[in-house]
Amino acid sequence: MKNKQLPHEEKQQLMAAVNLLSIQGYLHNLIIYFLFFGSGLVIGITLSSYLKEIPSGSQRKRFSDDIVQPSSLSISISSPPPLPLPPPPQPCPQPLQQIPAGRSGLKEYIEPPIAMHDMNEEELRWRASMVPRIREFPFRRVPKIAFMFLAKGNLPLAPLWERFFSGHQGLYSIYVHSQPRFNWSMPEDSVFYGRRIPSKAVEWGKFSMIEAEKRLVANALLDISNQRFILLSESCIPLFNFETVYDYLVYSHTTFVESYDLLGPVGRGRYNKRMMPHVTLEQWRKGAQWFEVDREMAVEVISDLKYHALFKRYCKPACYSDEHYLPTMITMKFPTRNANRTLHWVDWSKGGPHPAKFLRLDLTVEMLNRMRTGTECVYNGKPTNVCYLFARKFTASALDRLLRFAPKVMNF
Ligand SMILES: *[C@@H]1O[C@H](CO)[C@@H](O)[C@H](O)[C@H]1NC(C)=O
Ligand SMILES: *[C@@H]1O[C@H](CO)[C@@H](O)[C@H](O)[C@H]1NC(C)=O
Repeated sequence: MKNKQLPHEEKQQLMAAVNLLSIQGYLHNLIIYFLFFGSGLVIGITLSSYLKEIPSGSQRKRFSDDIVQPSSLSISISSPPPLPLPPPPQPCPQPLQQIPAGRSGLKEYIEPPIAMHDMNEEELRWRASMVPRIREFPFRRVPKIAFMFLAKGNLPLAPLWERFFSGHQGLYSIYVHSQPRFNWSMPEDSVFYGRRIPSKAVEWGKFSMIEAEKRLVANALLDISNQRFILLSESCIPLFNFETVYDYLVYSHTTFVESYDLLGPVGRGRYNKRMMPHVTLEQWRKGAQWFEVDREMAVEVISDLKYHALFKRYCKPACYSDEHYLPTMITMKFPTRNANRTLHWVDWSKGGPHPAKFLRLDLTVEMLNRMRTGTECVYNGKPTNVCYLFARKFTASALDRLLRFAPKVMNF
């Protein structure tokens, strides 16, 4: 009540004090707003500098959005993928907004390393086997497909693959293992340029083939973004365009390592009793060499020393490790994660130990369509007629026809 009787002067003083207070409050708010705006700006700049590292295009958006809540990716993404390069020790990963622009700490994880390096086999395997325990990435990770070419020499079908990959940078990485005596040369504008990994001599049918496969997988694991790993030969062709292959692999709940139990001399007949008790006859499997695995399985493949040693010792011709090691090991370790079928179409109809080769005149549109959709199988629990994404064995003589048929039959 006293306030009501305040003299005019006193009232004014009070008003002034109140005004001052509110001005101070206003300034205070202003500073808070400014800080808010400023940190927003910093976050924005940092984010945009990171986004630049990632390929552009609607595809990237689509797939990277899916990574945040990937119902179908949950198996593979939630399984901790390994760390690639060993940059300076990073005791605790800092949140994105605290990484000043231009800092290089995580650069090697976000920007894939070049394919060539000077690590020896042991160093490579060790580094590739690392898996981060923190599942969330402190940067945007777009899953990539590692296309691993196990080649004798050059890649006669490279022009077809160039067309397949065209326009999809950032969603794939390529690795080529070829005989070291081979003089590798690819033009600088080729997707295969600089993608050869340190390679060693491979004898077909011998265990050195498994070692070469593991070398490819280990090198591909160095790129933290590689999520699916597919082994190909120089005589393989894609049967679908890149988008289809990408979706099929990235959204698959299973891996594709062919694995079956075969009675008779070329199946169970190749089993060696000395593998007991680590591998029993009932656990022995056969399957095509050309596998497709996810990141978790890839880490397991390169980290396995036990079955590696066992097969190297007891599966020698006429036992072929490339037809038994992975099918047996994967079925033992991941009995429910694997589709047990291969993604590589091949023609065994002519009999004999090697599949038929496609020469120029064998190749027709009908033939390609039969490979693409002429079979029934299961994908993510549902029946489908898209069972094969790749086919072998094609020679350079089929290239001109393949290039001609690709746009209308395979949509690339
Ligand atoms: C490979 O080819 C290049 C260019 O043709 C040549 O200069 C080089 O000596 C060759 N290297 C080997 C090991 O044959
Ligand atoms: C793959 O084979 C294993 C072992 O034979 C079996 O347990 C599993 O159910 C098979 N997976 C599919 C998808 O058929």
